[in-house]
This record gives sequence, structure tokens and C-alpha cells, in this order.
Amino acid sequence: MLSFQERQINPGDCPRSLLIMGLIRRITKSREETEDLGRRLGELLKAQGSATVLLYGELGAGKTTLVKGIASAFGIPGREVGSASFVIVAEYDTLPRFFHIDLYRLETQGDIEELGVWDYLESGGIAVVEWAERLFEIPEGSVTVRIAYQDEDSREIVIEGAKGEIGHI
Ligand SMILES: Nc1ncnc2c1ncn2[C@@H]1O[C@H](COP(=O)(O)OP(=O)(O)O)[C@@H](O)[C@H]1O
Ligand SMILES: [Mg+2]
Repeated sequence: MLSFQERQINPGDCPRSLLIMGLIRRITKSREETEDLGRRLGELLKAQGSATVLLYGELGAGKTTLVKGIASAFGIPGREVGSASFVIVAEYDTLPRFFHIDLYRLETQGDIEELGVWDYLESGGIAVVEWAERLFEIPEGSVTVRIAYQDEDSREIVIEGAKGEIGHI
């Protein structure tokens, strides 16, 4: 029989399914609702001061839409976010500094290392990463957001690891 000590679960070893603490799940029914959810998440991140947000979801899921909302909490106009699809890292001179990183076109670990993604993630600002599937390593303490297409106007959005309440939409 295992002693109490041996049965203790180390949080770092927890299977993902057990990590339900701080899990937020919302269904948004429009682009505006997703932006609004993003803005609320942005407010939490701003209070936190430094954070990495990893966004997962297929093309057209609503990742950039959510980023527009997050960015709005930092005073960045939505039209400035994701306007040029060839930009991999957009850096905004806000306080804290805001980085919008889109890894869509980076396929190998070499590409990612060359870009210096880790420098941005460890910069002490707010880094929001689209296509986080491309990262070969996950930064500790990240907030993860999974967006799933439900139908033309609705999306399921699951946020893990955000510190604080996001309220209802
Ligand atoms: N509930 C919703 N949330 C987010 N986007 C939505 C929603 N309903 C419809 N859309 C549309 O889906 C598209 C999402 O595009 P985008 O945010 O660029 O996705 P991604 O960055 O994941 O490829 C936009 O055209 C947006 O208007
Ligand atoms: Mg996008």
C-alpha cells in the first residue's frame, strides 16, 4: 500500500483533465461577443502585468478577433491588430508592452528559434500567440485559450489559467 507521501499529487505532474481550476468556458454568438470576452481577459492580464496567452483553434475560429478584444484593453485599436497577414510579430509600445505573435507560417523549430519567440515570451510584457500548436515547448504559467467553431456565428471558447473572474456575457 502506498504511504500518504507517495500518493500526493504534485501539481506539475497532474494530468490535464485534473487541471480544471480557473477554467472558463463561454459560447459567443457573434464576433462582437468574442471581442468583448477578449477585452475582459485583457483587463485581467493588465492587472497581472506580465503574461503569455497561447491561442489554439483552426483557421477562421476567431483567434485574431479575440486578440483585437484583448488588445483593446491596452488601448490598441482593433483595426491595427492582424491587419497585415505577413506580420509575424507586432509589437505595441503600451505599458506593459504588448506583443501579438502569429506562428501560422512558421513550421519548424528552427524557424521559431530564428524568430526569437522565447525572447518575446520572456520579455515581461504581455505576449499573445496565435497558432501556439507550433511551439515545441510551452512556457510555464501560460494562459491557454481554445476556440472551436460551432456554427457560422457561434464559437466555444475555453480559457485556462487566467487569474480572476471574467463575468458572464
Ligand atoms: N462568435 C464569433 N467569434 C469570433 N469570430 C466570429 C464569430 N462569429 C463569426 N465570426 C467570424 O469568424 C471570423 C474569425 O476570423 P479570425 O478571427 O481572423 O480567425 P483566426 O484568427 O482564428 O483565423 C471572422 O470573419 C469573424 O467575423
Ligand atoms: Mg488569425
